[in-house]
Order: sequence, then C-alpha cells, then structure tokens
Amino acid sequence: MDVQEIVSRMSLDEKLRLIAGKDYWHMEGVESAGLPPVMLTDGPHGLRKQAEAADHLGINKSVPSTCFPPACLMASSWDESVAESVGEAIAEECIGEGVSIVLGPGVNIKRSPLCGRNFEYYSEDPLLAGKMGAAFIRGAEKLGIGTSLKHFAANNQEKARMISNSVVDERALREIYLRPFEIAVKEAEPATVMCSYNMINGVYSAENRWLLTDVLRKEWGFGGFVMTDWGAMTDRVKAVKAGLDLEMPGPAPHNAEEVRKAIENGTLAMEELDECVSRLVSFILRAVKVQQRPYSIPLHHETARKAAASSLVLLENHSALPLSADGKYAVIGSLAEHIRYQGAGSSKINPHKVDNILSALDEAGVSYEYAPGYSSATGESSSELIEEALKAAEGKDAVILVLGLPDSYESEGFDRTHMNLPEGELEAASALIASGAKVIALVMAGAPVLLPFRKEVSALLFCYLGGEAAGSAVADVLTGRVNPSGKLAETFPVSENDIPCRECFATSERNVEYRESIFVGYRYYDWAGKEVAYPFGYGLSYTTFSLSGLAVSADSVHHTAEVSVRVRNTGKRSGSEVVQIYTGMTSSRIMRPLRELAAFRKIHLDAGEEQVITFSLGERCFSYYDTETGKFEVESGEYMIYAGVSSRDLLSGVPVVMEGTDSPSGAVTERGVFPDFEKLFSGPLPLIRDDGSINANTPLSQALESERGRRVLGPLVSALEQALEAQGDDSARMMLSMLYDMPLRAVWMFSPQAGDAVRALIE
Ligand code: BGC
Repeated sequence: MDVQEIVSRMSLDEKLRLIAGKDYWHMEGVESAGLPPVMLTDGPHGLRKQAEAADHLGINKSVPSTCFPPACLMASSWDESVAESVGEAIAEECIGEGVSIVLGPGVNIKRSPLCGRNFEYYSEDPLLAGKMGAAFIRGAEKLGIGTSLKHFAANNQEKARMISNSVVDERALREIYLRPFEIAVKEAEPATVMCSYNMINGVYSAENRWLLTDVLRKEWGFGGFVMTDWGAMTDRVKAVKAGLDLEMPGPAPHNAEEVRKAIENGTLAMEELDECVSRLVSFILRAVKVQQRPYSIPLHHETARKAAASSLVLLENHSALPLSADGKYAVIGSLAEHIRYQGAGSSKINPHKVDNILSALDEAGVSYEYAPGYSSATGESSSELIEEALKAAEGKDAVILVLGLPDSYESEGFDRTHMNLPEGELEAASALIASGAKVIALVMAGAPVLLPFRKEVSALLFCYLGGEAAGSAVADVLTGRVNPSGKLAETFPVSENDIPCRECFATSERNVEYRESIFVGYRYYDWAGKEVAYPFGYGLSYTTFSLSGLAVSADSVHHTAEVSVRVRNTGKRSGSEVVQIYTGMTSSRIMRPLRELAAFRKIHLDAGEEQVITFSLGERCFSYYDTETGKFEVESGEYMIYAGVSSRDLLSGVPVVMEGTDSPSGAVTERGVFPDFEKLFSGPLPLIRDDGSINANTPLSQALESERGRRVLGPLVSALEQALEAQGDDSARMMLSMLYDMPLRAVWMFSPQAGDAVRALIE
C-alpha cells in the first residue's frame, strides 16, 4: 500500500492518535496498515535510548552506547568528514537498538558564549554550523536512520526557554539564525525537523506557519515531517495549520479532542490533518525498511577518539608540546582523573567506557606524578591540595595542568552567568605558575571561558568536551602521535563585557531582544574593532603553514567567483590546515559585517608539501537579505575576497566588482554602533505582554503568585522541589532551575498528578 491508500483507510481516531507520540520515545503505529510504532531517541552525540523509566532530561540511565564528541568539539575539526563519520556510527547503533530517529543535530547559533547548552551546538557562524550539521545528517541518513534537525529556530538561550519570545529582525533571522537550518535542509534533507520551545516575534515555533510552512517547506523544499520539542506544543489546531506534524511526547488525548472538535465544526479541514498524517506515514514506511548491519563498539570508540583528536584546539605553544619521550611530568587537576567529556541534560550518554587522561598517559608511556589540586565536583581547592600539587611539580620538566568547568556550571536548562573557571582551579594555576614551573594547561569546558593565565603558560590546549575517548585523544595530541589541527568555531572574547548581546541575553524578561541584529560573534568583534583573546578560526599546529598566491576570477553578473590559493607546509611534520575564505563589501550603503566566512576546507600536507586549492563561491557569498524585496540580493560595488587561517589572520584581499542593486534597503549605522532596534521592524516591536490571566502558557512562578495558584499547585511544587533537592545531582539542579520558568502546559511532563491539578486550574 502506498501512503495515500494507507491514509485514505485510516479512521479519524487513528489519525488523531498518530499526530502525537505513543509515549515518551515512540511514534504511534498504524494498526490498520500493519505499521508498527517506531522509536526516536536523543542525540545528538550518541544514542540515549532509555530502557528504564522514561524522562527527557538525562535523569535515568540509558542503554550503553558510544559517547562521541559533543558538537562544541566536533565543530572545531572544521572537517565535514568527521561529522559524517560520527553521524554514520550513531546510525549504526540506532539500527542495532531498533531506533528509527536520532534527535539531532542541533545547529542553533551561539549567540552568547554563556548559553548553557552551547556544548550541543556547533558555531557562532551559520555556514560552519550548517555544513557540520548537514554532514552529520548525511552520515546518519545514508543508512536509512532519520535525523531531527533542532531546535528550529532562534533558541539561543536556556533561560525560560519554554516561554521566551525571541525578538529578532528578519535580516538577522535570515542571515544568521535560519541560515544553518537552511543549509542543512537543502544540502542533506533530514527526515525531520524539531521545532523550538520559544516564540519568534510573538509566535510559538510550534504554531508558526511562516516558519514551518512558508520558509521551511515552500522556500527550502523540506519534504520531511516536523515534530515538537518535548512539551513545546501550545495550540494543537493552530499547529496542524502551521505544518507541525508530530506532538512529542504523547499520547495527548486532550489535544486530539481539540483537533476532533475543529474538524467537526469546520475550522480545520480534513485535508489539513491528512497532510500531517501523510508525512508521518511516509516516514514510518521508510523506517520499517531499514536493514540490520553489523558494527563494532571498539571501532566506534576509535571513531570517537579520532574525531576528538582532530578537533582539539592548541591555543598557545612555546616549544612545550609535544611532550618529550624522556620527560618527567607532573599531572595536576582532578579532571585528569574524573574527566568531563559531555554536558548534562537530554544529550547525556551512558558510555561503554571512558578514557581518562591519566590512564591514556599511562598507555602512552608518559612518566608523571599526579596530584588532584582541586575537587572536580566543585572546582574548590585548599592549601593542602595546592601544597601537594606544588610538591608534585617540583623538579619536573613541566606540569600538565588540567582545568575545566564542573558539571554544575553549564547544562541544558540554565545559562552561565559568567565566564570564569572556578576560583579554586585558578588559585591552583596561579600557585603553579608562581612557582616557576613550566605549565601546559588543558581546559575542558563546553564553551569559552576566561583564561587569565593564557600568556603565562608554556602551552594551552582547549579540549572542550571530548566524548568518551577524550582522554586518549588528548594524550594523542600531547605526545605528538596526532598533530593538532582544531580551529575555534567561535570567538574567545577578552571579557564578558565584550559579548555583543551582553545586555539582552537571559535577562528576567520574557521578551529577548536581539538588539545586536546581524552582529554575532566575529561579525561583531571584527566590525567593532574589539580586541579578542582568540579569534574565530584560530588554532595552532606542531608544524607551520604558509598561504600565498590568492587568485580570484569573478563573474560579476551571476555573482560567483572561483578562488584559488597555494598552501604549503613549511614545517618539519605532516599536519592539517583549515583554509578559510571570507568575503566582505568594501563600502556598502547599508550596515554589513566587515567580512563573513564564505568557504573553508581542511587539507592534509606532508612536511614541505604544497597544494593549490580552489573554491567556488556562489551568490550567497556576496548577498545580504533585503527586507524590502524579501529576498537575498547582491549590492553593486566592490567586494574583497580574503584567504587565511582565522578571521584575523588573512592574506591581503583581492577586490572583485559585482553588479547588482544600487538601492539596497537595510539599516544604516556607524561602524561598531548597533542600529536603532525599533527601526529594524516594519511595525511595532513584536513583544508579548502579560495580561495577568492564568492560562496554559503562564509560567509556574507567576501562577504561584495568585492565591488560587498557590492553593492548587503549591503543595505539588513543594513536593517536587524537595524530591529534586534530595536528589541533589546535576540533573536535579537543571530541573530546579527550569521549574519556575516552566509554563503550566508543560508541568504534566514532570508529574502526571501535577498535570491534572494544572488542567483544573486553567479550566
Ligand atoms: C530538548 C531536546 C530533546 C528533547 C527530548 C528537550 O528538552 O530540548 O533537545 O531532544 O528534550 O529529550
């Protein structure tokens, strides 16, 4: 039977059941067509299949699987083949576990380094995020496993994520926030897209027809189905009309009733419902055909190790690395033993095994003495721990100092409030540096941190969160078995005060105003002439490379360019370099970043080897989004094309001239000064205002302000709070921080009794 025939035979009841999950992790089957329920689970850097009690926040353990490097590290590979191999390996584990969809990749833009969930995302740059996401999708989908590109869209902070309203001008949406999704959809055709929790310009993503139908399906040609993030459903009828096919988790009998009523009273046409149903059936038909295929867990561990090793970013090296074979070292830092290799929340994997740094150094034959220096759980130190560390460092050739953020500092569900490493770790670092020891610092964190010691250490390797093989990958780079080639996929600012959205990020306001518009990441730092700690695209190697001979031939009418550049390995070791091409308009009539990443490629060269590499730049590399014409347009004038190895280490640009529009429409502003925010919108700012009533979208904190709310919900919330406090681990911390910002409609996901009470209150 084909899709049409199956749908035509389904009863209304069957259709209403199908558009919500069967439970937390399954889609409904279609009994009348003999189609079974299929399973979908998190992602994105491994498989989190829960065999025990279901929850969606990484609380209960899942079946063991390989924990690959989270996106924060994988992006630093700047290597699409790495993301593709990881996608493929995860798909193999999905097949083995009978899972049809992996919930990832996450391609949201890192608007601020403080977003608690940045470890699950790739970059501050839309091209890099989109390309890495597309590669992951290709890897998984070629084996028939569906992916779910998330979180669509403008979900760039964790604070109040289920109720916040991202107020973003359309140009910033199109050029920055939607762009990685567009690339991934057009280039890799994911089977599904997951809508975000938040509103965009006053409309919840789940019921945003402009987003899900006009842009995603009609403009980009998306042919798969859209599901909600867990608990993101607001109004089921509006969502069907918007093109939202699957509500997760399920079942959702109340919403099914709403849809039934709408069909009966004619406000929703059966054809509209059938469109959703057909898209779901068509996926299930594909899923049941997936063939078993053998795979090896040890080989996946190796894939994880290689992915991590080719992504670690060497930020400083003053002849301290690689380690010398006969050197005597001290290893200081409890994280060397209790390695932090992934973040908390729905992406948390239960790995088969974890390589820590100590065991990996043992295996590599490195001679060292270890002292913890601080507690890995809290980052606190003490005079005894520091004394012990100084003692271990005495007489050694160098100290390998392992620092990082404890779990409690960053997680899904809340954002960081500062960029500092824990005080105790910094104290240990200062003491070691002051003792005159040669310090090789390693930092494990899901996002940039301030590195006050960066100019005082002999080497600095930023490890991000590296997955289960992180320890071995770090040892590979330290010993020189692998020559580092990771490059930052995001800027490291000098201070939190430099972050472009510092004043309008994760505030207590429900309206999150994206006042910096298109000036995100290096687009801002370069345009505003801000000093940075480490620029976008930066990373060192144990060899050196030189770029030369940048040549460009441009087609000014069709707005394309062929670019070539010679790359030479000028050092004594083989290694890989990431060649980055940027374009920027010399003098635009509207506001524009100085330059934007247009293409990149990682190439491997032996010592002394040289290669000319070429890039084809398409129209998008020169265009901006014109809000007047509603299209990407090329402005006439001169553009510079740069080639280099970071956004701030470039050969002098080659100018090309493009013919295009002479009257671009867009904001005009002085360099470094944000545009007038209100003027970026055609009408009044799309803010949401609170009318004081209690409804499904009212946050729990607000419902508890009313006497009735307190009476109905107070005891339940206190009980929940006590239970979480007693639990006391990082997932409990995450739930606690999310609890009060949670809308009433979502409370049932945490406790069925609370759900009944909430419904009664709303009704
Ligand atoms: C997260 C999603 C995740 C889902 C299911 C949500 O809380 O935002 O990324 O896929 O839960 O666990």
